[in-house]
Amino acid sequence: MDAFYVTLHITLVFQFISFGSSTCLFGCSCTDDILGRSLLCMETSMGEIPVDIPHDFIKIRIEKSHLTELPRGSFSKVPALEFLWLNFNEIALMNMKSLERLANLTELRLQGNKLTSVPWTAFQDTPKLKILDLKHNHLDVLPEHALRYLPALTYLDLSFNQLSVIAKEVFINWPLFQIAEKAWAKEGMVSNVVLGLHDNPWLCDCRLKGFVEFTRSVSPPIILMNSYLMCSGPALKAHKFFHEIQLKSCMRPVTSAPETNITLPLGANATLTCLVKGRPEPTIQWMYSLKIIRGFVASQTNIDEETFSSQLLIPSLHLADRGLYTCTANNFIGNSSVNITVNIASSDSSLPLLPPVPMLSSEENAYIEIHIAKQTVYGITLEWHAATENPAETWFTIHFGKYDSPKKEMIYIGPGINSYSVSNLLPVTKYEVCVTLKNHPPREGQCIVFVTGSDISEMEQKERLIHIIVIVCAMVLAVPVGMYACTTEARFSCVDRFVDLWRMHRMHDENLQEGARQGTFDSLQATSDEALCKSSMEKPTKRRRSEDKSKGGSAAYLY
Ligand SMILES: *[C@@H]1O[C@H](CO)[C@@H](O)[C@H](O)[C@H]1NC(C)=O
Ligand SMILES: *[C@@H]1O[C@H](CO)[C@@H](O)[C@H](O)[C@H]1NC(C)=O
Ligand SMILES: *[C@@H]1O[C@H](CO)[C@@H](O)[C@H](O)[C@H]1NC(C)=O
Ligand SMILES: *[C@@H]1O[C@H](CO)[C@@H](O)[C@H](O)[C@H]1NC(C)=O
Ligand SMILES: *[C@@H]1O[C@H](CO)[C@@H](O)[C@H](O)[C@H]1NC(C)=O
Repeated sequence: MDAFYVTLHITLVFQFISFGSSTCLFGCSCTDDILGRSLLCMETSMGEIPVDIPHDFIKIRIEKSHLTELPRGSFSKVPALEFLWLNFNEIALMNMKSLERLANLTELRLQGNKLTSVPWTAFQDTPKLKILDLKHNHLDVLPEHALRYLPALTYLDLSFNQLSVIAKEVFINWPLFQIAEKAWAKEGMVSNVVLGLHDNPWLCDCRLKGFVEFTRSVSPPIILMNSYLMCSGPALKAHKFFHEIQLKSCMRPVTSAPETNITLPLGANATLTCLVKGRPEPTIQWMYSLKIIRGFVASQTNIDEETFSSQLLIPSLHLADRGLYTCTANNFIGNSSVNITVNIASSDSSLPLLPPVPMLSSEENAYIEIHIAKQTVYGITLEWHAATENPAETWFTIHFGKYDSPKKEMIYIGPGINSYSVSNLLPVTKYEVCVTLKNHPPREGQCIVFVTGSDISEMEQKERLIHIIVIVCAMVLAVPVGMYACTTEARFSCVDRFVDLWRMHRMHDENLQEGARQGTFDSLQATSDEALCKSSMEKPTKRRRSEDKSKGGSAAYLY
């Protein structure tokens, strides 16, 4: 009962207030003076611009009222509005059409808000704007045409923002600047224009050259509120005033290297040095063949304002580290690179270079578990795990080639790396890949044989021919090494049998078409001697199917 009357009472009081002041807003005050009616809302909790603002205001001041946004047509029902003060709110967003129908607006004050950018085209709606106060916001960019629609401005305050780099064109493109320059000959033709640009974190590199020159050349009728503009970076220029610095034009990087052909003994620590000259400071990157699997640390130092040195440290040089290292420097103007070749000194000139490391008998029986971690359209990624006494010092050799070719390519891999990718495989080819400890020859259990397939039905798509079927003889993955012998013969039979199985599987698969595909292969893999050949192959799932259709079929599913 009470609640009902309380509610009724509140409603009546509220109606009374809004009736009694039908032209003012609750929580605000309205005044009349010679200029017209003003609305003043201070420290209210309105949070957003009220939709029911009476239409006859000349001046609106809503401050400290937690406004967060200036939506489209915020004040479009107050077309006579000339002064709009929205200081000390939390406005972070200003709609491009937020000033719609404010053709008489002369003052917009947005001090102490959270704007990171301003839609400058919004000022197309306010051609009479004279005062624009944006100080204490978070503006970090001023586009070249920012001031294009502000021809009547006499006061622009951008101080205490986050501006770091702006082009002098911002001001050169300002219609008012062009008029002012012409009118300066006929003194007194234009009123003064005050610009507040101080207390921004100006980054005084070559990009600011034009702007710094502009601020120095500024003369009445344009006046800087505070002409002591200060740099905050780069380090060498921090805390310097604009009038104390000389800036040069921007420059594409130029790279060089004191040494471009480095020869070091195995195990040495190598340091590659790249010198870069450029403005502004370029980003420097190193590229080398094993970067994906083995990243080295590069450190950068400034030699002077525009010369930088980058050093790539290769700890304890391995054979795999030989080759070409490219240092590339890049800034917004362009890039440049230099090549450095790293060789390993060897007393033994025979090729391939074998490291003179004694074969440790304790490691001779070390067990390497090897498997194919990933199949790509063109190749495979190999992974291995080795139980060795000193993993930080143990390097590996990958022996890779066609199965029946006695000569295999050897790739040396440094310690700490346990994967390697092979690409550009040929279709319908049987390959063997082995991973051995140091420079040991391959032993059983350290090799994987696989066959790349060919999808005859989709022969046109040549580059997508590869299906890889992996045959792991003697189940090296599942049982300790040496448990099963995997002779050359056994391998052949494994492969042959597997290829047969694979064909059967494909036929079976085709017969099944849209039917249940799960486990089709598992049901084929049943007889006893196949236990020696652990094979892995496509286990079709719906997702893979749809991929296959779009890609033209890269079918093998690998564990
Ligand atoms: C805008 O200002 C002009 C000139 O002061 C005035 O004639 C016009 O009525 C004003 N517009 C509105 C919508 O009040
Ligand atoms: C680099 O140095 C090695 C050994 O000093 C030499 O054999 C090789 O020809 C040099 N390469 C170039 C491109 O100068
Ligand atoms: C290579 O650098 C490491 C660490 O900085 C150091 O312990 C090692 O002694 C250096 N090796 C050589 C051959 O200088
Ligand atoms: C280097 O510049 C050339 C054009 O000068 C461009 O084609 C190439 O992509 C750039 N390279 C990098 C890494 O930015
Ligand atoms: C660096 O070597 C690569 C590969 O040989 C070559 O394409 C490139 O033009 C070389 N760059 C320079 C700057 O010599």
